[in-house]
Amino acid sequence: MLGGMTNSELVAPSRPRVILDCDPGHDDAVALVVAAHFCDVQGVTTVAGNAPLEQTTHNALVIRDLIGLDAPIHRGSDRPLVAAPRHASSIHGKSGLDGADLPAPTTELDGVDAIEFIVETCRADEGLWLIPTGPLTNIGRAFKMAPDVANRLAGVSLMGGGSFGNFSASAEFNIWADPDAAAIVFDAFDPSTPGNPDGRLVMAGLDVTHQFQLTPSRIERTRKLGGTLAPALAGLFEFFSAAYIERHHPGAMQGAALHDPLAVLAVTHPELFEREHRHVVVETRGEHTAGMTVIDERLLRERSAPNCEVLTAVDDAAAFALVVEAVAAFT
Ligand code: RIB
Ligand code: CA
Repeated sequence: MLGGMTNSELVAPSRPRVILDCDPGHDDAVALVVAAHFCDVQGVTTVAGNAPLEQTTHNALVIRDLIGLDAPIHRGSDRPLVAAPRHASSIHGKSGLDGADLPAPTTELDGVDAIEFIVETCRADEGLWLIPTGPLTNIGRAFKMAPDVANRLAGVSLMGGGSFGNFSASAEFNIWADPDAAAIVFDAFDPSTPGNPDGRLVMAGLDVTHQFQLTPSRIERTRKLGGTLAPALAGLFEFFSAAYIERHHPGAMQGAALHDPLAVLAVTHPELFEREHRHVVVETRGEHTAGMTVIDERLLRERSAPNCEVLTAVDDAAAFALVVEAVAAFT
């Protein structure tokens, strides 16, 4: 139930207008495909995260070409607001998209100031969704530079956080990589923040994304779609899943968690998810907890008013069927 609303009352906007802010990244690549199929993509912005900015930007261009997406790509932040740059090559490889022989991009970058693109686009067109699937550096900088932007959005649907971590015991990579930027974003939606936006903050954290795994049968189902895109994605999935299985105890995971597309599907198909309205803050200084999303689960009257819809469950079979539909549309 969302503030008295049942999931069935959460009606998805037809082809929501979105800006995808990403660090491709195997799962970011799928988020791009899903957004291209189900959304009206106003633009793609890139951020350093899974790999350095040069790589994530190159990878975004490669995926745009592979699917023929008609949307501008603007390069963003090459480092976090305060923390030292940290990447995830152990999961995504040095290129950020290891596992397939992908064609070099043929299209050019459309801009080198993602923050300006986000601010100007949101000021010109009210009611957009920002869908960040990497560290929140670009979004945090945009909210700092232009505090009016947050209140012009339909919402922010982000992949990040959770009640447990992956890059530390307490912190998920996207929040861990830039906790200061994440704090700006979560605090902006806090009801106690003067002028807090009417829009929604939706968090697809590890609690829900670990329910959405690239099992061997799903990788084969993707490969069998044929064409150019699907076999390339199948190769990427095999690399991504091998990294996950290598990193986890035997049997803990049946494949990589396909995190980022859930931030898109939370906007386009909200009925697939269960959610709880919670107060969430980001720890920025803890020696062992920097980057932790502190979710207030206490059943106390004194609990702070919620600022975030925390996704807690997903119909993973239905979600993967939508991924297959999107991939097939570009194959
Ligand atoms: O922790 C998972 C997140 O970190 C995903 O967005 C993945 O792409 C990496 O960026
Ligand atoms: Ca990502």
